[in-house]
Amino acid sequence: MVNFMEKATTFSHLVSLVLILQLLNPFLGLSSSSLGSNGQPEIPTKFLDFAQRQELVDWIVGIRRKIHEKPELGYEEFETSKLIREELDKMGIPYKYPVAVTGVVGFVGTGKPPFVAIRADMDALAMQEMVEWEHKSKNPGKMHACGHDAHVSMLLGAAKILKEHINELKGTVVLVFQPAEEGGGGAKVMIDEGALEKVDAIFGLHVAPSIPIGVVASRPGPFLAGSGMFEAVISGKGGHAALPQHSIDPILAASSVIVSLQHLVSREADPLDSQVVTVAKFQGGGAFNVIPDSVTIGGTFRAFSKESLIQIKQRIEEVIKGQAAVQRCSATVEFLEKEKPFFPPTINNKDLHEHFKSVAGDMLGNHKVIDMQPLMGAEDFSFYQEVIPGYFFMLGMQNKTRPELKFVHSPYFEINEDALPYGAALHASLAASYLLKAEPKVPLQGKLHEENLHDEL
Ligand SMILES: *[C@@H]1O[C@H](CO)[C@@H](O)[C@H](O)[C@H]1NC(C)=O
Repeated sequence: MVNFMEKATTFSHLVSLVLILQLLNPFLGLSSSSLGSNGQPEIPTKFLDFAQRQELVDWIVGIRRKIHEKPELGYEEFETSKLIREELDKMGIPYKYPVAVTGVVGFVGTGKPPFVAIRADMDALAMQEMVEWEHKSKNPGKMHACGHDAHVSMLLGAAKILKEHINELKGTVVLVFQPAEEGGGGAKVMIDEGALEKVDAIFGLHVAPSIPIGVVASRPGPFLAGSGMFEAVISGKGGHAALPQHSIDPILAASSVIVSLQHLVSREADPLDSQVVTVAKFQGGGAFNVIPDSVTIGGTFRAFSKESLIQIKQRIEEVIKGQAAVQRCSATVEFLEKEKPFFPPTINNKDLHEHFKSVAGDMLGNHKVIDMQPLMGAEDFSFYQEVIPGYFFMLGMQNKTRPELKFVHSPYFEINEDALPYGAALHASLAASYLLKAEPKVPLQGKLHEENLHDEL
């Protein structure tokens, strides 16, 4: 996920939310019993007990460390994918492979509808790990600094829990191991290659360093922003820095461009429709006394609706070209959609939010299930949510008695492995409980689920 914790809810924020939620609880009807007779409160606690057995904990942690040692970039997750398939083989879980180059799609349950998916991303980041520990990355310049090693191990943990309780599954759980979340849009390719076939709903999670362990956080509706990237080359005419009249200065033009781009959010966007434009790259010139021929700038833009993203994209291009022209420069603008596809906003289905609150509340206690503010970070989980109802949430890792964890994408990023059993149990419980609730009262072959969902959940 792309820098999603930059504006993360702080601990104190969470504490006050907890208090408010606790106070409001009787009025909001947040208790799990409000979700009807179909709910099976024993599943979440049973699965968490199972996940916290020492044997399973050691196994999940072992897998996570193995993956951590061998990080692989998007669409190159060959060893990670092989490890996943070996573990699924050992468990006797059938799967499809390859899906989207390295992706794996496993199936646990009856093999019949309803189908519900749980998802993990497999790719690492192109950065050097700086944490000195026994299982430090052995691939120079590559690191699991976004927790995808933990995500994979938790999904395998969920597979183990589900397989062990297969007789209780009233349908099929689809295990989605996808490549290339970090900008490569792996989710989109997974969908194109059929990963969501027959699937009614999908759940995903992300580890969160600044949320307490044993706490989960999310919200219904818009949760994470949609995002796009842009890159522009602003060209003038280079020359001697002492004689500006003989040059056309692209540095000054690029500077005007950047200032004008900042007016898009401050003057053109609805203040109640959160948006971001950041220029994070500025390259040009190499000497103190030479005006360069051109400058390259690049950045990202974020918004919570497709309409806002389209609008801001169009204006970025107009402003760069127009403002460059004011300074007698020319500009080309690219949006790099091939390598870095636009991520849609992550919009959580409201019925699945109720399901999540009920299941996670039964497992962790209702006061450990927190509604949080939306974040301007982006997640390619949103591609799944464009096709079927989906739900994405944050899994707390912070333990106040230990040193503070660094944010994702830091070379000092670490996982609190105590969080892994929670993630595995939540994945498994969300899926198994969903199947119980989604089980059609009157089986209707082929009747799909938009309506069922609303009826049942
Ligand atoms: C937090 O860390 C301490 C010290 O390592 C440990 O004893 C405790 O169990 C941890 N708490 C949780 C909830 O994992």
